[in-house]
Amino acid sequence: MTVAKPLPHDAAHLHVTGQARYVDDIPTPAHCLHLVFGLSDIAHGIITEIDLDPVRQAPGVLAVLTADDLPFDNDVSPSAHDEPLLSKGEIFYLGQPIFLVIAESYLAARKAARLGEITYDERPAILTIDDAMAANSRFEDGPRIYAKGDVERAISEAPHQVRGSIEVGGQEHFYLEGQAAVALPQEGGDMIVHSSTQHPTEIQHKVAEAIGQPMHSVRVEVRRMGGGFGGKESQGNALAVACAVAARATGRPCKMRYDRDDDMMVTGKRHDLRINYHVGFDDEGRIAGVDFTHLMRCGWAQDLSLPVADRAMLHADNAYHLPTARVTSHRLKTHTQSATAFRGFGGPQGMVGIERVLDHIAHFLGRDGLEVRRRNFYASGGSISRTIKPHTTHYGMEVTDFILHEMVEALEVSSDYHARRAAVAEWNARNPLLKKGIALTPVKFGISFTLTHLNQAGALVHVYQDGSIHLNHGGTEMGQGLFQKVAQVAADRFGVPLAAVKITATDTGKVPNTSATAASSGSDLNGMAVKIACDEIRDRMARCLAELHQADPAKVVFRDGHVEVGADRLSFAEAAALTYQNRVSLSATGFYKTPKLQWDRIKGYGRPFFYFAYGAAVTEVVIDTLTGENRILRADILHDCGASLNPALDIGQIEGGYVQGAGWLTTEELVWDDKGRLRTHAPSTYKIPACSDRPDIFNVALWDGQNREETIYRSKAVGEPPFMLGISAFLALSDAVAACGADYPALDAPATAERILAAVNRVHA
Ligand code: MTE
Ligand code: MOS
Repeated sequence: MTVAKPLPHDAAHLHVTGQARYVDDIPTPAHCLHLVFGLSDIAHGIITEIDLDPVRQAPGVLAVLTADDLPFDNDVSPSAHDEPLLSKGEIFYLGQPIFLVIAESYLAARKAARLGEITYDERPAILTIDDAMAANSRFEDGPRIYAKGDVERAISEAPHQVRGSIEVGGQEHFYLEGQAAVALPQEGGDMIVHSSTQHPTEIQHKVAEAIGQPMHSVRVEVRRMGGGFGGKESQGNALAVACAVAARATGRPCKMRYDRDDDMMVTGKRHDLRINYHVGFDDEGRIAGVDFTHLMRCGWAQDLSLPVADRAMLHADNAYHLPTARVTSHRLKTHTQSATAFRGFGGPQGMVGIERVLDHIAHFLGRDGLEVRRRNFYASGGSISRTIKPHTTHYGMEVTDFILHEMVEALEVSSDYHARRAAVAEWNARNPLLKKGIALTPVKFGISFTLTHLNQAGALVHVYQDGSIHLNHGGTEMGQGLFQKVAQVAADRFGVPLAAVKITATDTGKVPNTSATAASSGSDLNGMAVKIACDEIRDRMARCLAELHQADPAKVVFRDGHVEVGADRLSFAEAAALTYQNRVSLSATGFYKTPKLQWDRIKGYGRPFFYFAYGAAVTEVVIDTLTGENRILRADILHDCGASLNPALDIGQIEGGYVQGAGWLTTEELVWDDKGRLRTHAPSTYKIPACSDRPDIFNVALWDGQNREETIYRSKAVGEPPFMLGISAFLALSDAVAACGADYPALDAPATAERILAAVNRVHA
């Protein structure tokens, strides 16, 4: 069986030897032109004068386009048609594209883009959450509210209450390969586009609109991305559309890639937010009711902010049964980059809120955080009897697959949690300057797109006469290993070695109308679609061969590169050739849609998720109370991938997810000045975790189980859930600061050294 094997990533050798081709490595035809945007340098205002003659006269410049030069749709929004490719006269953020330089070389385009002379009538900019609330600047008419029960009464009647607030910063995706696209004009106005995108169909759609052609005239191909992390769900639209528009105007191939600084200035990031909370609980820390307010900074355009904010609301419970709850979500419109999808898609933000609440409750009661958490867990899925109704979430979904009681128990033992907690307390009693902290946090993450119709996928599989297999599906590869997992499925269905299966680039001409590879659902959806296509061909082969050999088609077996028909044994290649000679099609499409979903996002009620993925992490840290500097000493993780399709790739996702999650809440700080200029727009000032920042001891294990729902080989999605295990690093830092005094540290995120130092001084005082 090829499924469940810990095989390396299919392109691992190409990645490490530098041979893997990204968009910028694709050989382009002669006379390829290079594009760079001219950007605004104010956050809000109206363009009063624009002089681009110096740009046009710069060496190597072929043409310069503004909004007036776009003959068709000037829009790159994935949702609300509110995102012009080039400004129509009003400026909405500092870094907004105003004009497009088309030049003979990348350097010429870059130099020329600086020469635009633009005069603005500057207007006051709404930059912060407080600015936006004061101006009632928002998407949708008012806040969205999901509620369960009489939360006010439950809180006021509970024996204890706490109230608080936490600021949670955004996050730059920092994909190693920046945004990039190439457009190759074809005869009759057709266009081929190579794009570093998680969403080829949307690129096709937006390009078609921008060049005034039906979707059938545009073919988008994506072999791989050098990371996407949600930042290439919608943020690649602008480059692909710019290339297509320029290619149409010049008749020449056009290429665009953002310089790292431009990438950070132009594109959206994770939504930052403030969470206000009020919670009522009993002496043991059991929550009676919790009231959350999410104040999310969405930036200037709608993009994916509504579903991101919804998902934050849907994860405000994390792993905990809330008898009553209310989540009020404000989607604030500001003159900053348009915040977008980022691993977890709002889920991490929602989860930080409830984990903060539990940390606060535990501190208030002087109890162990784990004990308080466990007391609030949902009831075990397995133990729910027919007579007792399972717990429901604050959005009315029954939680029937809860396994965190068992998982956390196992992690407690494997990580030696209690002994280490005692050792930390002892250390802190002896050491006045270096303080340690430890925290265990769980994850329950809902799997499915909350926009129900996106939960579909297609596949196209061909078997050739020599028995080799061509595999294609709608998912994209961004390093997560999707292509390898799906190839393992295909090899398994035909009982052939993996080498018989050719992984091919995502192509809108092969599988149409795809969803973004997002919401961690890549292998769930595309794995199933591929299985269905393979089984269709396999069954046709079986019927054909059974007839030829006068055997029962149900007893034809595909294994070990062979097909067994009655007493005969053919190689898979012989079987394919024979099927072909008997004029039976060896090509099939597959289509899959996720069952059981029912969700009303306006009411906030129903079953938005097919199932939940679970995990838990214990992190131990040390802080220097004189400087705020800190280190992660050890992390132990137990994560649930159901029956893993590929344990090696899954562990890679877990390690990477944890480190990226910890980075978000610790060192990765985005700073805008009072003019709305992002000051941290390069690796010199924006600090993602380096290799040396990973935990000194890093133990990652997979939970041994199966998905209770019928997913592909009973596996579970793994792309995003482990990101939220990084919350344990943040709360371990909180725990270490708490050792410095009596007051609750109330750390904001990211917990940079400066913030930790300030919190230490606060609890000391
Ligand atoms: N892993 C790598 N190496 N690179 C990425 O860009 N993106 C993450 C996650 N893991 C990402 C990654 C995000 S945001 C998602 S939604 C999933 O992968 C998408 O892929 P999947 O659905 O196949 O898990
Ligand atoms: Mo992932 S944020 O759903 O691309």
